[in-house]
Amino acid sequence: MKKSYSGIEDKRITGDLWFHHLKRERSEGPRLKDNRYSDYKESTKSIHAGQYDDPKTGALGTPIYQCSTFYLNKNTYGAIEEGRGRDELIYTRYGNPSQWSVQEKIAALENAESSIVFSSGMSAISSTLLAILDKGSHVVSSRDIYGGTYNFLYEDLDKYGMSVSFVSPTDIHEIENSIQENTKVLYFESLTNPLLKLVPIQELVALGKKYNLRVIIDNTFLTPYNLKALDLGVDLVINSATKYLNGHSDLIAGTVAGSRKLIDRIWPQMLKNGGSLDPHACFLLERSLKTFALRLRTHNHNAMKLATYLENHPRIKRVYYPGLASHDQYELANEQLKGRNSGMVSFEIDGGDEKAHELLDHLQLPKEATSLGGVESLISLPYNTSQASLTKKQQKAIGINDGLIRLSVGVEDIEDLIQDFDHAIATLFKTELNYAKQY
Ligand SMILES: Cc1ncc(COP(=O)(O)O)c(C=O)c1O
Repeated sequence: MKKSYSGIEDKRITGDLWFHHLKRERSEGPRLKDNRYSDYKESTKSIHAGQYDDPKTGALGTPIYQCSTFYLNKNTYGAIEEGRGRDELIYTRYGNPSQWSVQEKIAALENAESSIVFSSGMSAISSTLLAILDKGSHVVSSRDIYGGTYNFLYEDLDKYGMSVSFVSPTDIHEIENSIQENTKVLYFESLTNPLLKLVPIQELVALGKKYNLRVIIDNTFLTPYNLKALDLGVDLVINSATKYLNGHSDLIAGTVAGSRKLIDRIWPQMLKNGGSLDPHACFLLERSLKTFALRLRTHNHNAMKLATYLENHPRIKRVYYPGLASHDQYELANEQLKGRNSGMVSFEIDGGDEKAHELLDHLQLPKEATSLGGVESLISLPYNTSQASLTKKQQKAIGINDGLIRLSVGVEDIEDLIQDFDHAIATLFKTELNYAKQY
């Protein structure tokens, strides 16, 4: 009898082990040519890693390989037979050069051996968890987790005979105390939505080692520019590429990155769930990633300036931003993020949700829309968007107060953004402009 990849004797495996045999030799990738640029810095990787210039025509840039299938040959037949299908081009749900190209860029940015792009962040999350967990497994996750992830963990794990405990992401003792004999995964977001709490990653990784658990981090709010989760010992890092990685609010995509061995285990789950990314969306994502470092630098810079302005405004009750000394975890933020504090700012305005809605009406530049990480500033009220699936009581329990606004600071000129806020707040409260006094 053969063993499954979790090491358990499995009566269903009677023939040769297929692609889930974890002991075989693995290369990084898959990739068409050596294109990693691993030794370079962020902007150079963003531009050059994974780019497949067309050798036939000399066209510069990765072409869009808009096809569903590829000619079969001896190599592909052999690869399918031996379970090396991930390294060959067979059928676009399995792999496509447009996918490989963007996967290489993401792997380079994450300092990973391998990555997969998915048709959404949620597809990356659900496929990753279903691939890593076994029947009966338990997950420890965060009460502050993104609503879609919460729903998947809370509503769907049970159907597979799995379970979850939700804890505070900032309390490492509560996290440790929730670990059970059947716990397999610690699943957290590096920076939470909308209150921008940090999970102490190094302590989480230490727990993972102590109890032999996989640590999986959703790094959507920070991205690999602000935090290299794999370098800190995390096993797998996930991103909703819909947000900062793409950065133009014009597609939906997700990524997972890590060791080739673990990513090879997630790939068959992606095939079963069918969440592969369309070649045209891959082209857009790879193209957008060329300005990734450039964009993130400006997002971070603008967010710090706007957070400081808001904190000094008498009509703003509280600002949540890891770069401000008033943040509850300011020291941890300094240590973990090293000054790269993200482009997200949340704040509470005088007058509760009513005034918050009115403020959004008075603003000219930020677009009132859910989502984040676009070049344009996006603004919304979490109580009726990302946290709408929570009851008022649950929202209060994680700290979402009346009048809380979440802002994804874009890359507009910061002077224009601050003036826009200043005019809007002054109009709302029929007071003087505050901006001139400070700048
Ligand atoms: C932190 C986080 N993770 C995952 C997702 C899901 O991503 P997608 O909408 O691309 O499926 C979101 C979406 O807002 C998110 O904010």
